[in-house]
Amino acid sequence: MKIAVIGTGYVGLVSGVCWAELGNDVTCVDKLQSKIDQLNSGKVPIYEPGLEQMMNANRTAGKLRFTTSLAEAVQLADLVVIAVGTPSLPNGEANLSFIQQAAEEIGQVLAGYAIIVTKSTVPVGTNERVAAWVGAHTSQPFDVASVPEFLREGSAVRDTLHPDRIIIGTDSERAAAALESLHRPLTDQIVRTDIRSAEMIKYASNAFLATKISFINEIANLCEKVGANVEEVATGMGLDQRIGGSFLRAGIGYGGSCFPKDTQALIQIAGDVAYDFKLLKSVVEVNQLQRRSVLEKLADSLGHLNGRTIGLWGLAFKPGTDDVRESPAADIMAALIEAGAVLKVYDPIAMVNFKRTYYNAAGSDDNIIWCEEQWEAVLGSDALCLLTEWDAFVQADLQRVESLLRGSVLIDGRNVFRLEQVASTGLRYYSVGRPALK
Ligand code: UGA
Repeated sequence: MKIAVIGTGYVGLVSGVCWAELGNDVTCVDKLQSKIDQLNSGKVPIYEPGLEQMMNANRTAGKLRFTTSLAEAVQLADLVVIAVGTPSLPNGEANLSFIQQAAEEIGQVLAGYAIIVTKSTVPVGTNERVAAWVGAHTSQPFDVASVPEFLREGSAVRDTLHPDRIIIGTDSERAAAALESLHRPLTDQIVRTDIRSAEMIKYASNAFLATKISFINEIANLCEKVGANVEEVATGMGLDQRIGGSFLRAGIGYGGSCFPKDTQALIQIAGDVAYDFKLLKSVVEVNQLQRRSVLEKLADSLGHLNGRTIGLWGLAFKPGTDDVRESPAADIMAALIEAGAVLKVYDPIAMVNFKRTYYNAAGSDDNIIWCEEQWEAVLGSDALCLLTEWDAFVQADLQRVESLLRGSVLIDGRNVFRLEQVASTGLRYYSVGRPALK
């Protein structure tokens, strides 16, 4: 198939590269000339294992190209994919202005029948608006479809090439048949449905996963009070196939560009039709409170935070990515600084992005020392907090942590160390929902 992909963010770029890999002819479009130049020079602007290599192999094979010209890409395409951003408005609602702009431009240049697919996460009813936006600018025939994306950052290529399921939401037989044959090489689990249900499946899936996380975090908080171990509890629960073991890792709460934005958007969508989504509101609140638990444990173990030096390992919202959007580390750092602490921080991949996003590019803040390597963050600190479970931290030598710290407190926000492993050191250890070693 000839495919035009509008938007070269995570979803657009990964989908475009993977469709080229499957033998399709793909043109990716972005408005930003600098981004297109970077892609044309063979560089991927995001940190995503395996993506750059696959992209360059397909560019060389002539199956993948990048351009700022939407017209050039769309005029030749059988399939036009909208994968532009839908950032949150201040009230939590998804901002559809990029979608509208893309749809209108597609309408202006359509040269014959095309299927217009939305991959961006959009509120229920948006694809009908896409059809209207396109239709207002063309007399060419076209169909619209919602094919939501379920990839995770850090394993985006694998998730795209080996999806659990593909959802195809459309009322057109012709579009459904073409989209089924495009996705058939990837999986047999293809669900055909109406457009509105497809749009809802995406939000409901992310909201449910976020609910699992907040649920296990509350169980963890309770475990701490009653002397149980949340890992044992999650294992015992997860073996029930109706519950399932995944997304039951307790920690400092979820972050990233999807769960926080999509849960807020779904609450907003519900509010628009006068439905009070009480459960999801609690999920969001619990997630916000969970970030505070790190501070409470630090304050409990150190007595006070004012003037204390705290080492922080991890700034990315999860390992395997340089994405720092809605990272718990940002809130935790701000609260620690407000409490008067001095921070020594380190992340193997996300330092640059983090500084740029939350501090000025130079990262100048008298209370923050941006470390060159992980042990510098430990040296002379009163406590060390692990916030992102990067391998280098998980495999760290705890004797070395103990000997470099000025104090003896280790806060493990991701439950990466085994209790027996820590018990053989003199560290005072606080994790999430497991017995503390004081
Ligand atoms: C998430 C979904 O998992 C994807 O299916 C979806 O396509 C994507 O959002 C999206 O809507 O685009 P992603 O945000 O990349 O993917 O990251 P996840 O691996 O799902 O992790 C999200 C957050 O939950 C992270 O902060 C992670 O640390 C946290 N988490 C995850 C937990 O705290 N506990 C768990 O058991 C699992």
